[in-house]
Amino acid sequence: MDNLLSEEHIMLRDMVRKFAKEKIEPVSSDNEHNKTFPRDIINEASEMGLMGIAFPDEYGGAGMDYISYMIAIEEISRACASTGVIISAHSSLACDPIYRFGTEEQKQKYLPDMLSGQKIGAFSLSESNAGSDAGNTQTTAVKKGDKWILNGSKLWATNGREADVFVLLASTDPSLKTKGVTAFIVEADTPGYSVGKVERKLGIRASSTTEIILDNVELPESALLGEINKGFKLAMVTLDGGRLGIASQALGIARASIEDAIKYAKEREQFGQAIVNFQAIQWMIADMWCQYESAWLLTWRASKMKNEGLNYSREAAMAKLVASEAAMFCANKCIQIHGGNGYTEEFKAERYYRDAKITEIYEGTSEIQRLVISRSLIMER
Ligand code: CAA
Repeated sequence: MDNLLSEEHIMLRDMVRKFAKEKIEPVSSDNEHNKTFPRDIINEASEMGLMGIAFPDEYGGAGMDYISYMIAIEEISRACASTGVIISAHSSLACDPIYRFGTEEQKQKYLPDMLSGQKIGAFSLSESNAGSDAGNTQTTAVKKGDKWILNGSKLWATNGREADVFVLLASTDPSLKTKGVTAFIVEADTPGYSVGKVERKLGIRASSTTEIILDNVELPESALLGEINKGFKLAMVTLDGGRLGIASQALGIARASIEDAIKYAKEREQFGQAIVNFQAIQWMIADMWCQYESAWLLTWRASKMKNEGLNYSREAAMAKLVASEAAMFCANKCIQIHGGNGYTEEFKAERYYRDAKITEIYEGTSEIQRLVISRSLIMER
């Protein structure tokens, strides 16, 4: 697939691959098992420009494109899926809507610190009754004089414990459902704002996933992001980009599963020979690689469309759907090839399997991706 990448993309890939192998991989299992946020890794990634890959230099970004972003998230997630989602949620779900919908003043205020990694971003859309039905938000934002007063509680915010800046959705007119939702920029040190429950999860345990509590949080008018009652569309456009990040994360998990499976199959001997010589193993490897490359090509296409400013909602949903299912398939086969060893914490296969599962759920379940894809096809024909 190198022929689809420019020289710059290949240079970036090699640089991030080296960083991931030398710095992230040695600590990824310990961080995951101990649920430790990889602060040192994020600091180093920030110095390399990885917290602001696809953003212009004028706001402190690295000035690269979305294929570069896809490559970097895949390489990082190949070593550690938690680190992959920390960077992806920060970039796609917090920096991107501020860059896309923010006023010049908001961009100048937030982006330089966020793109340089000095401040971490998060996105807060979901609630207990607003998961797939994202428009059913119960958190309210009421205008009082020149202030907005926010009340409610949000769920499943990636980076919720560490983030300094949140893009948060609240209902400004509950009677209008999706047409009454507004986006706000909320700083974590605002009085009345607090982090609630920190989820105990199956995988990606080095990243935090939290509840956010808003108790009479008072925001100035300048905290409003985009237009009043246009927050649902802002969230949907933001999630289109987020789905590219999760597709890339899933690619990293799939590739880790394939590479570890091949390495193990070459070393492990049964019946007097390496198990890689058995056709049963070879067929599994072939199936894994076909799924990985199909997903890679879909993610590359959607990233290219985003670069070109085309509508890529359906393509992002396809990339995320196929990549997350490829990650699950490959992680499952990786355990199978490892046999009993794959079921233990001695090998990374069990972590890949636990990490892969979330890619079928967050930033829109596989069922929601199918809905987005089929709705767009049906509307078109
Ligand atoms: N781009 C632009 N506009 C869009 C859009 C898109 N991708 N998708 C929908 N819209 C617009 C529609 O055109 C419609 O506009 P009009 O009102 O002008 O007609 C409006 O938004 C409402 O759209 P729908 O009628 O389709 O809305 P719906 O209520 O049926 O919901 C949905 C559609 C696809 C199911 C949507 O709710 C959805 O994507 N749900 C999943 C939410 C999700 O991904 N949640 C994950 C949260 S983030 C997370 O995981 C945490 C984390 O930190 C990682």
